Amino acid sequence: MITSNVGPKVQRLIALIGEKYKLSKNLTVRALTEFGVTWAEDFELILDSLFLNDEDLDSAMKGYSAFSLDSMRRQKAFENVREYPKKTFAEAAGEVYFNEAHMMREYLPGLLLSHFLWLHHYRQLRFFDTAFLVPMGQAGGDTRFAEVGVGTAVYSRRILDRIPEARGTGFDISPFSCAFAIQHLRAAAVADRFTMNQQDIIVSPIEPVPWLVCVEVLEHLEQPVHFLKALRQGLAPGGKAFITAALNAAHADHIYLYRNAEEVLAHLEIAGFRLEQLFVAAAYTPPAKGVPVPLAAAFIVY
Ligand SMILES: C[S@@+](CC[C@H](N)C(=O)[O-])C[C@H]1O[C@@H](n2cnc3c(N)ncnc32)[C@H](O)[C@@H]1O
Repeated sequence: MITSNVGPKVQRLIALIGEKYKLSKNLTVRALTEFGVTWAEDFELILDSLFLNDEDLDSAMKGYSAFSLDSMRRQKAFENVREYPKKTFAEAAGEVYFNEAHMMREYLPGLLLSHFLWLHHYRQLRFFDTAFLVPMGQAGGDTRFAEVGVGTAVYSRRILDRIPEARGTGFDISPFSCAFAIQHLRAAAVADRFTMNQQDIIVSPIEPVPWLVCVEVLEHLEQPVHFLKALRQGLAPGGKAFITAALNAAHADHIYLYRNAEEVLAHLEIAGFRLEQLFVAAAYTPPAKGVPVPLAAAFIVY
């Protein structure tokens, strides 16, 4: 693999994966082959601002490995039973969103790296760029945005990095996601244009904005339509939203099973959204005919 035109942090990560995380080796090779230096430059920005030294990088990779191994184990079980294990939102929240050690050591670093190491996640980010970010940058006018379920803040950061006049507000129920997001945005020197709220938007509705982002939250809920109706109230007339869902993806905190993009679209429409564009990417080729694979489904709606 040619890595001479790859930045130092991505080079270190590739070396680290080669030494200690061999199961993930193909991921960087495939990303570089498919997306080339664009992927490496994009990833370098994130790694460089958040992981100051090899120890930080190693600790993030350790978190990513635990996060992805756990998901792979759950996915194997899902392939057999084709249902997610029954779990309430309160149970998932206790196990995941309010579990500080898990969130800070595994979940959030794991998710952050997955945006670049999982090809379907990175393809979704690129769809976000072309279908949402570019039109937002070109629209001028009111560039206030909100992100609900901010998590790692990868998406909010992308807006703040690329659109200097944009100002954002984030909402997340997890105190650890809020802390991680702010830490990330400070490290990227864009936190002065962002306000983070630990808030459930169903309980306390948000002020409508013209640009709205919600990435991988719907499958975490018992009643996604209920949440989507609150989200719809947060979109100003004439505004645009980027909303995604993970389908057939058995993670510890995925409790609502979406099997295809049509099911998500039906929920979006019940909540009052109208479709502008749809994107679907698979995590990998099914190992055998009919075996469900994780999909990333993203919708530009208004
Ligand atoms: C898979 S993560 C989302 C990842 C994030 N959008 C990103 O790209 O990194 C799910 C996030 O949704 C948050 N969440 C779960 N239920 C929520 C709810 N009802 N309202 C707001 N946030 C919620 C969790 O705390 C967690 O930070």
